[in-house]
Amino acid sequence: MVSEKQSREDVVADTAFAAACTEFQKYYALYGKEEWWWIMDDSMDAIGAQLNKQGYCIIDGFLTADQAQQLHKEVAECHAEGRLEGGGLVNGKLPSSDDAKYADRATRGDVIGWFDSTEDEWPHGRGLEGYLLKLGTLVSELQRPVPHLAKITSRSKAMAACYPGGGARYVKHVDNDGKHPLCKTRLLTALIYLNGSWHQGDGGELAIFRAEDEHSLRRTVPPLQNRLLLFWSDWRTPHEVRPAQKPRYSVTVWLLDNTQKVEETAQPAIPANLPPPSTAGECDYEWQQAATGWDLKVRLPEDMAAECPVLDISDVQVRVASSSGEPLLCLPLPCCGDAVPKWSRKRRQLTVHFSDLRCLADSAGQFAAQLASQGWGVIDGFLPGPEADELRQFVLAERAAGKLQTGRNAHEGPRKADNAEGKSPMKNDEYNFLEGDPPAVLRGLTRRCNQLLAKLLVADQLPLHGKNLLQGHPMLAIYPGTGAAYGRHLDSTVGGRGANGRVLTLVLYLNPFWKASHGGCLKLLQELADKDGIELEPLHGRLVGFLCQDQNPHEVLPCWADRVAVTVWYYDGDRLTERCLGDEGSLVGVFEGG
Ligand SMILES: [Fe+2]
Ligand SMILES: [Fe+2]
Repeated sequence: MVSEKQSREDVVADTAFAAACTEFQKYYALYGKEEWWWIMDDSMDAIGAQLNKQGYCIIDGFLTADQAQQLHKEVAECHAEGRLEGGGLVNGKLPSSDDAKYADRATRGDVIGWFDSTEDEWPHGRGLEGYLLKLGTLVSELQRPVPHLAKITSRSKAMAACYPGGGARYVKHVDNDGKHPLCKTRLLTALIYLNGSWHQGDGGELAIFRAEDEHSLRRTVPPLQNRLLLFWSDWRTPHEVRPAQKPRYSVTVWLLDNTQKVEETAQPAIPANLPPPSTAGECDYEWQQAATGWDLKVRLPEDMAAECPVLDISDVQVRVASSSGEPLLCLPLPCCGDAVPKWSRKRRQLTVHFSDLRCLADSAGQFAAQLASQGWGVIDGFLPGPEADELRQFVLAERAAGKLQTGRNAHEGPRKADNAEGKSPMKNDEYNFLEGDPPAVLRGLTRRCNQLLAKLLVADQLPLHGKNLLQGHPMLAIYPGTGAAYGRHLDSTVGGRGANGRVLTLVLYLNPFWKASHGGCLKLLQELADKDGIELEPLHGRLVGFLCQDQNPHEVLPCWADRVAVTVWYYDGDRLTERCLGDEGSLVGVFEGG
C-alpha cells in the first residue's frame, strides 16, 4: 500500500534546514554577500550536514532572483525553438532526429536536451554558464563537510527539461541503478527548478521515497523557482515526477564518479545489509497465441531509449536486452521454431513471432545424467513461457491474499531491521505449503515434475532407482527483495533431527526480470563449510533439482528484488517418520497426484 503521507521526521528536518538557510541569507545580505550566502562556512556546514543526514538537500534561493529568471527564459526559449525532444535520450547521447520524431510522448512525458554552456551550443544567453559555474563551486566547497564528494571527477552536460503539462510525469526510478553503463557513474544529482509561479494543484512535484522501502513516501517537493535539489543518484533516492498540469522547466546536472570502475573489482556489486537498487523500469511483456505459434510482445519501459532491443534466443529461452546491453527479460520459450522479430519505435514495442515447428526437446535424459554425475541438475525452460507467467501470477496473488507467511520455526523470522529482539534469523522468505485442491496451473507443474520423476526412477545409475517415492505439497515462496536470504543448510539428513525423509528437491524459479544485481542465486556447496560453490540464477522457468539427503548443502544469497519460486520435495515412502509430515501434513504418491 503506497502511503501519500509525507514522513513527519523528514518534514521537520527540512523545515528547520530551510529556516536556517533563510537566516543565513538575511545575515549575509547585511554584509553585501546576498548572492554568495551559501558559500560562507556556516552555511556550507549546514548544507553538508543536511545532505549527510537526509541523503538529499533542498536549497532555496541558490541563484539571485534575476539569475533564476534569466535561466528560466533561456530554457523556455530553447524549448520554443524546438531544441528539446521527447524521451529516449541517455546521458548526453543525442539520437538521430528520426529517433526523436518517433519517441513516444505519452509514456515519458518530458522533453529534454543535453547542452554545454558554450555560445555555439547554448546561444540563448549566459544564464546557464553562470549556473554551472556556481554549481561547480558549491559541489567543490561541499567536499569539506561531505568528504564522499571528493570522488567526483566530472559532470554531465546540463539536461534542460520541460514537462509540458497535461499530466506529463516520470515514473519511479533511481538515476543510477548501478548497472546501466551510461548512468552508473552518477554520484550526485543536482536539479534546479525554474518556473516563475507554482500553485498547489499544478503538479510536477518530485516525490522522494525511502531507500529501504520504495513504497514509503518521504517528501513531495514542489518545483519552485530557484530551488536547488541535491540528492544521491543511486539506490538511496528512489523518486518520481508527479503528473505536471502546467509546463514545468528544470535543469539537471549529474556529478560523476569515474573512479568506481577500478574499485568495482574489489567490492561486491551490492554491499551486504544495504537496501536494494530500485526495480523500476521493468518491461511489460506478454505471450499471445497465434495461428502458427506464439507472439511475444515486449514494451520498453518509459525511462529507456526507444531503441530496438537485442534478442538472444536459445533452444529453450529468449533473452531480451536493451540496445545498450542491459538485461531486460529472460523467458522460457513456449515452443521451438523459427523466430521473426518486428520492432515498432513509435509503440516502443518489439514483437517476436515464434512458429510452432516442434515440441521442446525432452531434457529428462540429460537431467538424469547430471544428477548421476554431480548430484544436481538444471533444466532451463522447464515450464513453457505462458504457463510460467500464470504460475508466477498465482504465487503473487497468494501473497497479496496474505497466504504466504514468514515461518514460525526457531531459525525463521522477519528481516533483521523489523526484528525487535535484534536476532538474525537464518531464513526469512515468505512461504506456504499448498494443501487442498491445487489450481490447474500448479497441477501442470506437479504433473511435469512427476513425468520427470518417472524417467529418473528407471535410470539405474541414480540412487532413486526403484524407490517408492511420494510427492509433497508444493511450497510457494517469495524472498522479499530487501535482502531476504536462507543461510547454508541441508534439506534432509539420514539420521538425527534433519531426518525428514526427503530425497530429492526440485525448485522451479519464476523471475522473468532477473538481473545479476538482484542477487538471490542458489549456491550449491560440496561441504557446509565451503567458501566457494556453484551459483545458479533463479531464472524464469528454470528447474533446479538435487539429491538432498546428506548431500548438496546450499544457501540462498540475499535477494535485492522479490524472488519467486515453487519447490516440490520427493520423499522416500519406505523411510517416512513423524518428522516427514511436520511441514506438509500429508504426502501423495508420485503417481497418485496426476
Ligand atoms: Fe530522476
Ligand atoms: Fe533448502
